[in-house]
Amino acid sequence: MMELVDSGIDGLNIMLGGGIPVGSSVLILGSYGAGKTTLGIHFTYAGLKRGERVAYFSLEERKESIMKASEQYGMDLEPFLEKNLIMMNPGAVEFVEMLKLKENFKRSIEEENVSRVVIDSISIMMMAADSDVLRRSIIMNLSESLKDLNVTSLLISETDVGQPYTSREKFAEFVVDGVISLQHIYNDRNGEESSLVRILKMRFMNHDRKARPYTIGDKGIQIMAKSDIFIS
Ligand SMILES: Nc1ncnc2c1ncn2[C@@H]1O[C@H](COP(=O)(O)OP(=O)(O)OP(=O)(O)O)[C@@H](O)[C@H]1O
Ligand SMILES: [Mg+2]
Repeated sequence: MMELVDSGIDGLNIMLGGGIPVGSSVLILGSYGAGKTTLGIHFTYAGLKRGERVAYFSLEERKESIMKASEQYGMDLEPFLEKNLIMMNPGAVEFVEMLKLKENFKRSIEEENVSRVVIDSISIMMMAADSDVLRRSIIMNLSESLKDLNVTSLLISETDVGQPYTSREKFAEFVVDGVISLQHIYNDRNGEESSLVRILKMRFMNHDRKARPYTIGDKGIQIMAKSDIFIS
């Protein structure tokens, strides 16, 4: 039996067919405000609650902002700080430098003995690299380090509005084990917003092939895993 990791969201676990295969790296795609960081918080909290150690690399938002969001969602990460939660706020350039040598990044994770890693986001890291050659190389180093250490990871990536299934830099989707898209769809006729989550790829899993609706509320992301929004 393959060991599966709780994603932190029940509906997503159902869509995945149980959870994320341990040791997988999963790319989380979404435009601004789609809920990528919120998903990162769910995943982090799920690990911490089980007594796992988690490393969260926040390259965009300050640590305080992530803590505040987690508290608002009722998944307060603060009590785990300095214990099982390693929050890092590296600069994008600094992070790229570290990733130039695979061993550097690997060692920093290895020393902390974590089983889950979140990189929020790889987009800002990729922007700080100044050539396609370097971008390919750092994403490969990142992915291989995570694989070598058998940690389960979320690599968060921004997409352009209207391009929900490809990251801006277009390298990572081929390297990672899974790709999940979070998308807000705006209807300007009636003013409504609907949100859809779709699993585009998950190696080893016979996952849900349908997009499912989700909402972001007081408890974070909720996915209506079994409801169909498309009525034929
Ligand atoms: N308490 C809450 N209740 C309902 N919705 C909320 C709440 N807190 C945040 N949200 C929604 O979640 C969105 C922010 O989600 P999140 O930070 O996870 O997005 P993101 O995809 O990481 O965005 P970015 O690309 O800007 O980092 C807000 O724009 C808001 O719509
Ligand atoms: Mg975010």
